Amino acid sequence: MSVLAALGGDPIRTETYPRWPVFDHAEIEAVTKAVLSGRWGGSPYPGPNTAEFAAKFSEMQGGGAAVPMMNGTITMEVALRAAGIGWGDEVIVPAYTFQATAAAPMEAGAIPVLVDVSPENYCIDPAAVLKAITDKTKAIIVVHLAAQMADMDAILDIARAHDLVVIEDAAHAHGARWRGMGSGTIGDFGSFSLHSAKILTTGEGGVLLCKDQHMAELAASIIDCGRPKDADKKNYTMGVNYRWSELHAAIGLVALERFPGQMAQRAEMADYLEECISEIPGLSMLTRDPRLTRRSQYRYIIKIDPDYYHCKNDTFCYAMVKEGLPVDTGYPAMHRYDLFQPLLSRLPVPSAFPEYFNFEEMSFPVAETASESESVWMGEAIFRSGKQGVDDLVAGLMKLHENRGKLPQLAEQFAEEIETHDQLSKMRKRR
Ligand SMILES: Cc1ncc(COP(=O)(O)O)c(C=O)c1O
Repeated sequence: MSVLAALGGDPIRTETYPRWPVFDHAEIEAVTKAVLSGRWGGSPYPGPNTAEFAAKFSEMQGGGAAVPMMNGTITMEVALRAAGIGWGDEVIVPAYTFQATAAAPMEAGAIPVLVDVSPENYCIDPAAVLKAITDKTKAIIVVHLAAQMADMDAILDIARAHDLVVIEDAAHAHGARWRGMGSGTIGDFGSFSLHSAKILTTGEGGVLLCKDQHMAELAASIIDCGRPKDADKKNYTMGVNYRWSELHAAIGLVALERFPGQMAQRAEMADYLEECISEIPGLSMLTRDPRLTRRSQYRYIIKIDPDYYHCKNDTFCYAMVKEGLPVDTGYPAMHRYDLFQPLLSRLPVPSAFPEYFNFEEMSFPVAETASESESVWMGEAIFRSGKQGVDDLVAGLMKLHENRGKLPQLAEQFAEEIETHDQLSKMRKRR
């Protein structure tokens, strides 16, 4: 039996996985051209690169009016503001996602109401949404997590029945399709991040897709200090400067060209991974919904059976990282997430409605189990490194399986090392 790298054995992989983002002379030329044009900023909005990016992004997603802006958090805030949702309104969000999904409603003055996710796909659970609706509920934000999409059929049924706005947080799901419809084009708004880790990136950036042209005009106005965007230039809004720069948009135009090939490559390797790991005991995959007609993958999540492996996901990931394999435990459940501190917000929402933020009394069993015991998030680069990259990952999983009796003793070692190791510290439990 080979010795675990965490216990002094040789790691499975010593070569690093390919870097992200991918770039070459094309990005350098695009930015150089933008610099030489002298048109660097986003004003007047949209600049020519931003407008071209918006048209091409919307074409790629298959619909919606695209409004590019500074990041994929304000996209959600702006969507809520455009829809007239704010002070005291409730917005339902999943308890298992990046902090931004819950923070954005607060920036619009609304109250994020957390609900649990489904064990099938770790996306928002429609049954939990239904239970959380009150007469103050105005919107649902769903998150298409990692390589999954939320059940948009069920969510739209609920939204129609209760007259709610639907925002798709598609920060992980550029290019994905639900029954042939592009992510972000199914609800009223689609919110995309172009942050450096995302599968379509310009370093920083975001795109809001709006189903309704009037909403797109309002959104463009809100991010451009309130300047009117209607044909008659009469409709002023209360806005701020969240415009996107032309330098970012120049990179974005190249990124859009690279994207389809990268998406196909990741999808092919995810299929291959699924073939390879289906036989490893104690591991399971999330459900592959046939309505997810095109999978676009940011990260790939598997579940471990903590009893079978005699450890939780953090120790499991620690052992994998020591084998040279980039995995982590993903997000904490929102009510246990250090990055989500609504009581420190400068908005009056938390003090006016403290009952919404009583985290000690909240319970989201699926999100808690996912984040604290069973989910293992595979790094994106694994899926851009050919079959060898996936084979190494699988070899690591098999090595851990073979050595599962030794995993409990790693928990202590992990706790000692965690403070000093960057990659591992990402796995730290928040509470
Ligand atoms: C699910 C999700 N929503 C929203 C965001 C926020 O995007 P940004 O960093 O561009 O503000 C991120 C990631 O950063 C994310 O992962």
